[in-house]
Amino acid sequence: MTAIAHPNIALIKYWGKRDESMVLPLHGSLSMTLDIFPTATTVRITPTRSADIVRINGCPAPAAAAARVTEFLALVRVLTGSDACASVETINSVPTGVGLASSASGFAALAVAAAQAYGLQLDRRELSRLARRGSGSAARSVFGGFAQWHAGSGLGAVGDRSSYAEPVDASALDPAMVIAIVDRRPKPMPSREAMRHTAATSPLFLPWLHSCADDLARMRIAIAEGDLTRVGEIAEHNAFGMHATMWAARPAVRFLAPESFAIIDRIAELRRLGIPAYATADAGPNIVALCARHDADQVSAYLRETSDNLHVQIALPGPDATITNGADR
Ligand code: DP6
Repeated sequence: MTAIAHPNIALIKYWGKRDESMVLPLHGSLSMTLDIFPTATTVRITPTRSADIVRINGCPAPAAAAARVTEFLALVRVLTGSDACASVETINSVPTGVGLASSASGFAALAVAAAQAYGLQLDRRELSRLARRGSGSAARSVFGGFAQWHAGSGLGAVGDRSSYAEPVDASALDPAMVIAIVDRRPKPMPSREAMRHTAATSPLFLPWLHSCADDLARMRIAIAEGDLTRVGEIAEHNAFGMHATMWAARPAVRFLAPESFAIIDRIAELRRLGIPAYATADAGPNIVALCARHDADQVSAYLRETSDNLHVQIALPGPDATITNGADR
């Protein structure tokens, strides 16, 4: 079974867990799934083998990535009562480890493909809950367009049932995201570890949680009203708040690079020139500009001028994670 899923970029970030093993967040988040950088994952049941095989982009997966996939498959096997191993082939068109949410598209595609391969009948909410167990942000990539991931309440199995993403009607907006890839080198600290460290040591962590609740409520209103300027302002403040919270961790977690700040400045200049564009950034140095679709070419051209080796690409709202042909390949 082959499934395709796309990365998402959060406008209200997820940064903090209340339950590590169930991947339950401390607060809700909201994102846009992109129409670029798909991940295609094929899962084949291999009953005669005694171990799972995991390949990424044609090569055996690095040990840590393979362990996460195997752990995820173990979860699927518990749900189905099967003990059959599987082979997993992933083709990732998003560069891994540069803060462009390859784990979101990766685990969304894996959840959809593995559920199908093991014969699990899950609706989209259940698929979102399953994808969440692989990587929190993957819960949102199960859905195309805009999606909100509910924090839910409680721990363990109770929390598990209450924490899933669902689509958000953003038909009043006509947004684009202009992705500026600053650096394809792997990041200094995996986001999972950075998240744990921030929660444990940053004195700004509690205020961060409060600000997210407020930002999320205001974001929902701005989206419903089709107010892209408000959406952009709230998203930019939220992203800067997350990075500031990481900066205050001890020792500091610093994902943004000097080039990142140059692009953020450039986005602010665009606003002074009368083009509404707003910056956001995940756990990496890349910067994403949110803007109106009709301004995307201009925003892209302007950001490209920041530096010669900047890779800039325009993304629109993308589709749901799906099985590509419903048949084994
Ligand atoms: C900064 O979903 O990668 O991109 O649940 O530990 O796998 P785990 O974390 P992950 O974190 C993503 C964090 C973020 C913000 C976001 O996408 O909301």
